[in-house]
Formats: sequence, C-alpha cells, structure tokens
Amino acid sequence: MIHIAIDGPAGAGKSTIARRLAAQIGFIYVDTGALYRAVGLFALRSHAETHDAAAVTALLPQIELSLRFENGVQKVFLNNEDVSEAIRTPAVSMAASGVSAIPQVREFLFDLQRKIALESNIIMDGRDIGTVVLPNAQLKIFLTASAEDRAQRRFEELQVKSQPADYRQVLDDIRQRDYQDMHRATAPLKQADDAVKIDTTGNTLEQSIALLRGVIREKL
Ligand code: C5P
Repeated sequence: MIHIAIDGPAGAGKSTIARRLAAQIGFIYVDTGALYRAVGLFALRSHAETHDAAAVTALLPQIELSLRFENGVQKVFLNNEDVSEAIRTPAVSMAASGVSAIPQVREFLFDLQRKIALESNIIMDGRDIGTVVLPNAQLKIFLTASAEDRAQRRFEELQVKSQPADYRQVLDDIRQRDYQDMHRATAPLKQADDAVKIDTTGNTLEQSIALLRGVIREKL
C-alpha cells in the first residue's frame, strides 16, 4: 500500500488539498481530525470537562466510531449516528484539541487509523501521522501557513456555512489550538524529520494543490 501522510496546524488547508489530491490520484482520503472531533463531541454531549483525562477516559467504553467512505467522501459515525456535520463547529474544534492531549484517547483511535491504512492506498491527514501513526509512509508532507492566513480561511469557511464567526475569535482559537497541539506530552504536532515542508501562506488553493502534486510526482 502507498501511504501519504500530511500533518500540520489547524486551517493550513490539509483537508481540502488532500481531498482534491486523493480524487486526482485515486487514493482514499482519511481525515483523522474527524475522529478526535467525534470523541470531543461525545465528551461535550456528556458534559465532561474535555481536559479531564479521567472523566474522558471513563467515557471511551461508551464510544463506537467508524469511518465510511461514500464516493470518496468520508463520513464519521459515532455510535451509528452520522456526525459528519455536527463535528464541524468551533466548540467541537476546541473540544477535540482538549481530548486529543489525553494518551488514552490517542491509543483508543490508533488501531482504527492503522487498520484503514493497511487496507488501501491513502492520503491521511492529522497532527501525528508522519511521526506516530504511519512512520513508514512513503511520503510525508508538513503543511503550514501563517496563523493569520489560516484564521482567514477558517473565517470564510464558517461564513459560507452561515455559522456565526468573528475573525479575531477565530484567530485566537487557532493560536490556542496550535499551542495546545504543539505542547502536549503525547504525540505533539511537529514536523517529522523526513517530511517535506510546504508553506501555503499567500497561496490560492489551486497553487497549493499544484505544489503538492509536484512533490508527489517527484517523490513517488
Ligand atoms: O484536523 P482538525 O482540525 O479537524 O483536528 C481537530 C483536533 O484534533 C486538532 O486540533 C488536534 O488537537 C486533534 N488531532 C490530533 N491528531 C490528529 C488529528 C487531529 O491530535 N492526527
């Protein structure tokens, strides 16, 4: 199987770019953030404090997650409920970042991610794919952009979905998630030694896709 790992901070364009690339090269696109988001959503619904390791760990036996792929589109099921839309809110983003620092949560999601990778040619994106989940991936990309650029993209996404959004708040949330994701003890967000770093600051989506296409062509 061929594995392409894409890691990077929130809003760097990983999912949009990876989805488009996967369609172009006939790979399955796996968004691992959706799994952490589903756990975060369950914790929020259970009124658990998302940074409380004991409280969140106690919930894990009640959670059954699965990913299904329909025409290349990933759907996330939480106890058989399709939560693919419900996990895309700012509150769930922050909850996902909280629960993702808990080692038991990472362990809980590890096997599912590995199993999917064993079955198909994939582009998988997240924070620790190149460093922890798929350390032998044939190609690793670390995708980043300035916090302001990333916040602007998230802000526009929220506006398109008619979700209430304030640019300053989105930027603050991005900075807080960057900090939490980079400073946690287990599987922190960092560039793998053998990853190609791509900075998409100032790029259009098409330019970023072309850049990654070039790297894939050159390296695989
Ligand atoms: O990629 P996305 O923004 O959907 O991820 C939500 C959160 O899930 C991230 O802020 C991060 O804390 C966590 N995450 C992670 N490891 C991954 C993917 C996501 O810790 N592989």
